[in-house]
Amino acid sequence: MLAIMSATQATSPVRSASGAVFLPIQLESLRVDTVTDFELYVQPHAGDAPVLYRGNGLPFTDDVRGRLAENGIECLYILSAEEAAYLRYMESNLAAILTDDHIDKEAKSNILYGSAQNLVKEVMLDPRSGEAIQRSQELVENTVNYLFAEKDAFEHLLKVTSFDYYTYTHSVNVFVFSVSLAQRIGMNDVATLREFGDGTLLHDIGKSMLDPAIINCRGRLTEAQWALMKMHPVYGYEILKDNGKLTDRALDVVRHHHEKIRGGGYPDNLSGAGISSWTRICTICDIFDALTTQRSYKPAMNSFPALRLMKDEMAPDLDPDFFRIFVDMMGNPGGH
Ligand SMILES: [Fe+2]
Ligand SMILES: [Fe+2]
Repeated sequence: MLAIMSATQATSPVRSASGAVFLPIQLESLRVDTVTDFELYVQPHAGDAPVLYRGNGLPFTDDVRGRLAENGIECLYILSAEEAAYLRYMESNLAAILTDDHIDKEAKSNILYGSAQNLVKEVMLDPRSGEAIQRSQELVENTVNYLFAEKDAFEHLLKVTSFDYYTYTHSVNVFVFSVSLAQRIGMNDVATLREFGDGTLLHDIGKSMLDPAIINCRGRLTEAQWALMKMHPVYGYEILKDNGKLTDRALDVVRHHHEKIRGGGYPDNLSGAGISSWTRICTICDIFDALTTQRSYKPAMNSFPALRLMKDEMAPDLDPDFFRIFVDMMGNPGGH
């Protein structure tokens, strides 16, 4: 379940006597003159079960919004069963939400993470859908614009990073870390950042082709399973190359994010200058996120022990300059 309110606004999910679960959403996140294809509920008094306020498929007008605001209602509820519809709605209104000064940054971060995770989940279910890949490019564009326009956007995004590992949460984390690190390294052209973002968000799309038993395996993979696991960068590369929307530089990130500077990585056993700077950035962020999130077979590490382990045990595999900048960024996420 995704958090979609900022912590400063009231709110945890509410369960009714019948067992229905309601999730809080922020009034400001609903856009005037859009159709909300999910039901909206209000809570008459604290502690009450939310009651239906508007059915689904109705236009959300200035009048409706005005009436709610007049009554001091800032928080509405949706049914948890309709969370995906709500997140899809957020995704299609993301450009307006991220540039709206009335929505605080914590809420923006939650909305961005929620809709991005929901989208990547859909991409993984149907990786050859051109429509989902197109949507992921729009999401990358909106996120990059936001990271570019708001100096402390990364710091706020970092606060809502999920520490539970799923391929979709991991994809979003690696994308946000990678674009922010690229900015610090000096990639400051929005179009280039978007191109790079497309590759990092979809870097593990090839895992969608693997048996979930391999992805979620609690113990060691067998040799045969490991051989399949090592194919995911190639599967991802092929899916996205066929789709035709990513550039060669972005496709290279997808194919080579498990290569190592000193060699010995997969799938092409590249080394040194054979590995592009874009891929080097993604690799650092990928390893960091894998270490700092919880899996079924291991607890999450905190940031600093994870950075220490990367420095002590993986330094020859990583780009030393980029790694140093990454360590600075995680120590001082608000600074530039
Ligand atoms: Fe991967
Ligand atoms: Fe990854």
